[in-house]
This record gives sequence, structure tokens and C-alpha cells, in this order.
Amino acid sequence: MTGQQAGHGFDHVGRVLRSARKIQAEVGGDRTIVELAALLHDVGDAKFHDGIEMSAALTRQILGELDVDEDTVDHVAQIVDNISFRKGSDAEPLSLEGQIVQDADRLDALGAIGIVRTIEYGAVFGQPFHVSGNNDAAQKTGLGHFDEKLFRLHALLNTEPARRMARQREAFMRTFVDQFLAEWEG
Ligand code: ADP
Ligand code: NI
Repeated sequence: MTGQQAGHGFDHVGRVLRSARKIQAEVGGDRTIVELAALLHDVGDAKFHDGIEMSAALTRQILGELDVDEDTVDHVAQIVDNISFRKGSDAEPLSLEGQIVQDADRLDALGAIGIVRTIEYGAVFGQPFHVSGNNDAAQKTGLGHFDEKLFRLHALLNTEPARRMARQREAFMRTFVDQFLAEWEG
């Protein structure tokens, strides 16, 4: 993941790993499964592989080269294959460990980090953060993405610790949006 831009570098993986460990410490589950799934959750994502979903295959390849038992490989592969937001209703149910990593990944889209990632995405894909008038819905913007996706994430979270962290991060984003719009209007 080292070379990935637009909010998916190894720094994202590190934050997801740390948040996942925190959640696991509160809700339980197998810590090793949580850690491996957090580390591997984006490695085979279709957006890094010309639209082809490689999550399970790359996870099996990478863990296959290490001394990892078969049940662990199967479990981690199932998690990374079913964790993505895009899979929606097609996804298989996630184990507790999968729910923890999914929550940790979603938390990284919120708060100060979430704001920066959205701005980085806009910079890479040539999308403005905001446009004048009531046009955030008509034209794709970073601020529009807050409403379309980011402010809806808390309702999708699986675990109570993640919901608690999300509330605090979302409040910070609301404060940012209020200040941003006040400054924009002048
Ligand atoms: P994930 O890999 O967790 O499924 P995405 O690839 O959809 O997440 O997005 C990663 C980050 O990129 C998001 O947290 C968000 O900040 C930013 N992002 C994604 N899509 C958009 C968009 N359409 N507009 C602005 N920012 C976006
Ligand atoms: Ni991710």
C-alpha cells in the first residue's frame, strides 16, 4: 500500500490497525484475526487492480507464504472479501472480527483525518471541495460527499466503541463545516 495515493497509503492501514486493536480490546474477538484482516483489508481492493477484486486471492497468496494455519487464512480471506462499502447487500455476513475491522476502516473516513482524506481525494480527482450556491448536490464536491456518505456512516457501524468514537469525530466535522461555510459566506 506504500505507493497508494488519495487516502489509501500505508498510513491508512496503520490507523485502521490501531483503531481495530482498540475496538477489539473492548468487545473481544480473536486479536490475531483482527490484526491480519486490518493489515490486508485494502491490499486486493478492486480500485487498485484495474477494477478486479483481488482481496481473497492476494490474502491467500500473502498468508500462504507465511506460517499461518488454514483456518486463519480462510477467515481473514472471508473478511477482506466482504468488508467493502461497495459490496452492500451482496456481502456475506461478517464475523465479530470482520465487524471490528469494518468499523475501524469506516472510522478513518470521519473526523480530522476524514476531512483531510476527502480533500486529498478531491485534489487527485480534480473535484472541488465546495461550490457557491446550493450546488453541492448538482456537482460532485467534497462537502457533498460528507452528506452523501460520511455523515451516514455512523448508522452502519457494528460495535458500540466505534459508535462512540464516530460521534466525537462527526461532531468535529460538523464544527468544521459550520466554520467553513461561515467563512465562505464572509
Ligand atoms: P474505502 O476504501 O474505505 O471503501 P473509499 O475509497 O470510498 O473508501 O474512500 C476513501 C476516502 O476517499 C473517503 O474516506 C473519502 O474521504 C474519500 N472519497 C471517496 N470518494 C469520494 C468522493 N466521491 N468525493 C470526495 N471524497 C471521496
Ligand atoms: Ni480502507
